[in-house]
Amino acid sequence: MFIFGASGDLTRRLLLPALYNLVVEKLLDPGFAIVGVDHVEHTEADFRDYLNSTVPAQIAGHVNAPDMLDGAAWTWLVRRCGYVAGDFGDPATYRALAARLEESRAEHGHANAVFYLAVAPRFFGAVVEQLGAAGLLSEEDGSFRRIVIEKPFGTDVDSAHELDAILLREAGERQIYRIDHFLGKETVQNVMALRFGNGIFEPIWSREYIDHIQITAAETVTVENRGKFYDATGALRDMVPNHMFQLLAMTAMEPPNSFAADAVRTEKAKVIEAIRRHSPAEAARWSVRGQYTAGQIGSRAVGDFVSEPHVAPDSRTETYVALKCMVDNWRWSGVPFFIRTGKALSVRRTEIAIQFKRAPSVLFRDTPTGALEPNLLIIHVQPNEGISLRFAAKVPGRKVRLSKVDMDFRYSDYFRAEPSTGYETLIFDCLIGDATLFQRADNIEAGWGAVQSLIDATGQGLCDLHPYVAGSRGPEAADALIGRDGYSWLPLSGRP
Ligand code: BG6
Repeated sequence: MFIFGASGDLTRRLLLPALYNLVVEKLLDPGFAIVGVDHVEHTEADFRDYLNSTVPAQIAGHVNAPDMLDGAAWTWLVRRCGYVAGDFGDPATYRALAARLEESRAEHGHANAVFYLAVAPRFFGAVVEQLGAAGLLSEEDGSFRRIVIEKPFGTDVDSAHELDAILLREAGERQIYRIDHFLGKETVQNVMALRFGNGIFEPIWSREYIDHIQITAAETVTVENRGKFYDATGALRDMVPNHMFQLLAMTAMEPPNSFAADAVRTEKAKVIEAIRRHSPAEAARWSVRGQYTAGQIGSRAVGDFVSEPHVAPDSRTETYVALKCMVDNWRWSGVPFFIRTGKALSVRRTEIAIQFKRAPSVLFRDTPTGALEPNLLIIHVQPNEGISLRFAAKVPGRKVRLSKVDMDFRYSDYFRAEPSTGYETLIFDCLIGDATLFQRADNIEAGWGAVQSLIDATGQGLCDLHPYVAGSRGPEAADALIGRDGYSWLPLSGRP
């Protein structure tokens, strides 16, 4: 595995800890090796020293118990780490990689390679072109050559399309693994198990029974040290066409013919393509953009977004976005999907809430119950992963009164989860050639297509920017947005 950007944040924080977890689970081949590629002038020994001094603390952080570091597993991994210092634009760098692959072929009889681009997006196209020019993407000798690309994949429809065009000139679609790390999350994968592994949900999974759906990804973190990236990106681009739409697609897709990668990805692309394309004016009407101002999150005081490092003092970038999406296909016609995500909110919570239509209250009209509450199925993506179902139960006593109760499944009550960064499954799947959990070109372009009118509306100054206090539930305008259809957001407080 060649990791471009070997001295970067992602490699240290997530990739090496994930690879370590795969070593602990004995899932890596004895011949597995890493070659870090970066412009930093390290020798191989320097690189290993750097990893030794930075990664174990990250691993300890992930497994939540510093003394749990498995020294033998870590040593096994770090011994297999080599390094090539070089500029990403210099053909000599790629000749050095080719030489490494020849060594591998001599030793193992094959030269399989994964090129992991843990680099800034501006290098994606250039690195892939260089790999292609050096012949490193050719699989003619029977070895596999795969490319892993991180997000953000483009910044709008056109740039994503251009990047795809470069990639697909140099490699086949099945060699390209576009990462959306939400798909590495167990609970996200569990949406398919819930829907298609049970007989009771699918028959009621449609506009006949479902009233509306709310998808939330609330974060307490601010932009921290990512001001430069975030100010140029904003909450919409950072979260919606990728992570939020993956949650939507898992929830709304038709059953695929099989779990084969293309069968699943075809159904996901279809549902994202069915999201209604608005005019910029309509997109502005059905969305809310917010930006956090100074406040308190728990015991932590937070400043204004515009005072964060590397954020322009007059920035109009949104740190919160809410929108209403309509999925115009047979199953979902008329069912609104409300999406909200933001930083510096009161809690960290990602969930998919499916609200069913109310039962007629005719039988309870003469009781103190009043209107019946709707049933609610919530998939708790994180934290406290699980699923809960809300229904009405009779309050004990002589009078007929109903109260809402929750039936709760928590992963941790049933399963012992292995320590995970969320990247283990994705890296492992790439190594075994299973692209099911990766984004195909059409998935990515469909995601951008569905938000393009909102990007345009923002560019044309059609969208207001609503301030919200850090540590709150977001701008009040978001309550008004969902309120226009007669609904309200589920509270961010309470379970989980
Ligand atoms: C990343 C975004 O892709 O996902 C971040 O760039 C965001 O801004 C993160 O914080 C959320 O991921 P997770 O796994 O922490 O929910």
